[in-house]
Amino acid sequence: MAIMIAIRGQDAEPWVKCFTERLPNHSIVLEGSHTQPELVRFGVSWQHEPGSLARYKNLAAIFSLGAGVDHILADPKLPSVPIVRSTNPDLSNRMSEWVLLHVLAHLRQYRKYDRQQSQKVWKDDRSQPSAEEIHVGVMGLGMLGLNAANKLKMVGFDVAGWSRTPKNIPGIECFSGSTDLEHFLARTDILVCLLPLTPETKGILNKRLFLQLRQGGPLSGPILLNAGRGELQSEDDIITSLDEGILRATTLDVFEIEPLSTDSPLWLHPAVTITPHNAAMSDPSAIVAEIAKQIEAYERGEPLQNVVKHTIGY
Ligand SMILES: NC(=O)c1ccc[n+]([C@@H]2O[C@H](COP(=O)([O-])OP(=O)(O)OC[C@H]3O[C@@H](n4cnc5c(N)ncnc54)[C@H](OP(=O)(O)O)[C@@H]3O)[C@@H](O)[C@H]2O)c1
Repeated sequence: MAIMIAIRGQDAEPWVKCFTERLPNHSIVLEGSHTQPELVRFGVSWQHEPGSLARYKNLAAIFSLGAGVDHILADPKLPSVPIVRSTNPDLSNRMSEWVLLHVLAHLRQYRKYDRQQSQKVWKDDRSQPSAEEIHVGVMGLGMLGLNAANKLKMVGFDVAGWSRTPKNIPGIECFSGSTDLEHFLARTDILVCLLPLTPETKGILNKRLFLQLRQGGPLSGPILLNAGRGELQSEDDIITSLDEGILRATTLDVFEIEPLSTDSPLWLHPAVTITPHNAAMSDPSAIVAEIAKQIEAYERGEPLQNVVKHTIGY
């Protein structure tokens, strides 16, 4: 029984090594290299070539190497088998590190003091607000958003969250659905987007939405963080909103087209912080351990966990 790895945009070798060590009784093959595709039972994908999985007629399931599955569902010739996503706690913890780092960097004006240090300027800011005064709004209260929201709460921020379906989370004001969105935005000083990319969420981070964020809060304007997916945002709208004072600053980990073009005005904009889509990197050993457990359980006749609902896209 073979496991086929279909990866683009990153080195497949660490994944092959981890799968070989963890599942020594399975043959591990790279997509395109197997002479008998009918022997492949499980597919493992990160941005696989669209259409390339169609020749594996005996696939039982496709596993995503990350939390997101938009890269799999975008394949118009996707075999009709369960798609399983990763829910490894390692991913949530890494994402929360990124969220805390950048929310706190905006609160404590890290970029300003960094610039001052490079100019040997000693100038403190007596009007530093505290975390309690800042309303953080987390878009997406799933595996990543919930972990980040709880940790932001622990630091002292006034945290709310927005999800598709209603939630009741102690200490976090919960909003859901399109009817609640304006109320959620109206109380938000720092917006943290951890939504999946679906037909409903594509392009949601646009000027119309930014205009609904709380103006005149203690940070002198709303701040956007996005580590969900680049296609959630309009980069033209982000630049315009920064230049028109609708947004005060932004930290982006994801971009409409990656890698971000050297021509993009985002790179040198003084109110933009960029990280190269590494807010929560998938650690091969942690993710492979999770997938291997699922494969072993499936082979014992147990049902797969964390199967994606195709109809809602995540
Ligand atoms: N930058 C990185 O390094 C990195 C790493 C990993 C993942 N990611 C991204 O993070 C995304 C989220 O991951 P996750 O594991 O937290 O996903 P998840 O567990 O599936 O949670 C998704 C959340 O978004 C909400 N949601 C979905 N569609 C919505 C809509 N139309 N309106 C309002 N809320 C909506 C869901 O609401 P319900 O709770 O009501 O279902 C849920 O709370 C991934 O899809 C991926 O794109 C990025």
